[in-house]
Amino acid sequence: MKETILVTGGAGYIGSHACLALAEAGYEAVIIDNFANSDRSSLDALQLITGAAPIFLEGDIRDAAFLDSVFARFRISTVMHFAGLKAVGESVAIPLEYYEVNVGGTLEVLKAMQRAGVRSIIFSSSATVYGDCKVQPVTEASPRSATNPYGQTKLVVEYMLEDLCGSDPEFGVASLRYFNPVGAHKSGVIGENPRGVPANLMPFVAQVATGQRPYLNVFGSDYETVDGTGVRDFIHVVDLVEGHVAALKYLKSHKGFTPINLGVGRGVSVLEMVAAFEAVSGRKVEYRLCDRRPGDVAASYADPANANALLGWRAVRSVEEMCADTWRWQQHHAARNAAAQA
Ligand code: NAD
Ligand code: UD1
Repeated sequence: MKETILVTGGAGYIGSHACLALAEAGYEAVIIDNFANSDRSSLDALQLITGAAPIFLEGDIRDAAFLDSVFARFRISTVMHFAGLKAVGESVAIPLEYYEVNVGGTLEVLKAMQRAGVRSIIFSSSATVYGDCKVQPVTEASPRSATNPYGQTKLVVEYMLEDLCGSDPEFGVASLRYFNPVGAHKSGVIGENPRGVPANLMPFVAQVATGQRPYLNVFGSDYETVDGTGVRDFIHVVDLVEGHVAALKYLKSHKGFTPINLGVGRGVSVLEMVAAFEAVSGRKVEYRLCDRRPGDVAASYADPANANALLGWRAVRSVEEMCADTWRWQQHHAARNAAAQA
């Protein structure tokens, strides 16, 4: 009997990659998703890669009865909780939706877990919980703050999880703080496919390379960084999800709330990323230097020592692999999907 993991938001970008990593590691994934920011194409792609139809139930994490039915039907050992809303700009415009889904939805998941006696969860947290931290790299002990409603929701959930662990010594939480996940699975059939104009760097760069957009706006060229542009800790999504499988094993023997940075531990600038993408794709990525984006920090990168020590995990994929895998996905699938959506 395979161990069964409930994957909320498993039709999305990171969740779909996690399902593949779970399958490779010998686990059974039960996916739930309401397709708020995804569709069935990622589920079809999972079937294409693994040769088996994924176990999928369409539903909303805010729906307690739905969650109870899932826990009643499957013997879940751990929840990987990816479902949520993630666009920073949108969270400023519609904060209540963000609190409702990210905080309210997580509360429902936790209450359903309690009713079902499941006491192990891996939460998709974010480097955004470090706010505008002046000291880099950040460790898990760096001060937490938020600069926007999306970040607030991640902070509130972390506090909620800490309180829950305080009340129940048998509860285990790995709060994985992702830095900047990019790239796609080697097959090129799953990847990040944002709706509308991409807010994040890599999908935008990829769309400039295919000619869907004329140029990239580089937000800020006067930061105190290597070349004046923003510096981030880009991490390959396959490394990221392998960190989740390592966290599953960690939770077997560790209870309580454990925050863990998932990053490479190295900062790469926007222009370095553009140059790497050009080299890999053989395409020119036109760009214009423009004003800083409000709310951006100059640099953000992880100290991944805790992940190395606790999980025995480290990110191994290079910037070139991140770009090559993004490019493969963009050429074959994302462009076609975007055209179908338009
Ligand atoms: P995504 O939007 O691709 O995936 C999230 C999935 O959750 C989608 O398939 C969506 O349809 C589903 N969902 C949303 N609301 C739901 C609801 N009420 N009920 C059921 N399903 C729902 O996003 P992603 O990039 O895969 O991110 C996954 C998680 O990781 C999110 O919690 C996000 O905040 C977090 N995270 C992402 C990044 C990043 O750069 N992508 C960085 C840090 C943290
Ligand atoms: C953003 C969010 C973060 C979230 C993450 C993943 C903010 C302040 N932070 O991180 O909370 O977890 O996305 O969803 O929004 N850039 C350009 N041109 C572009 C896009 C980006 O120059 O068109 C630059 C940015 O200024 C930044 C870097 O590229 O320096 C990375 O930006 P992005 O991919 O949006 O990620 P973050 O801002 O780090």
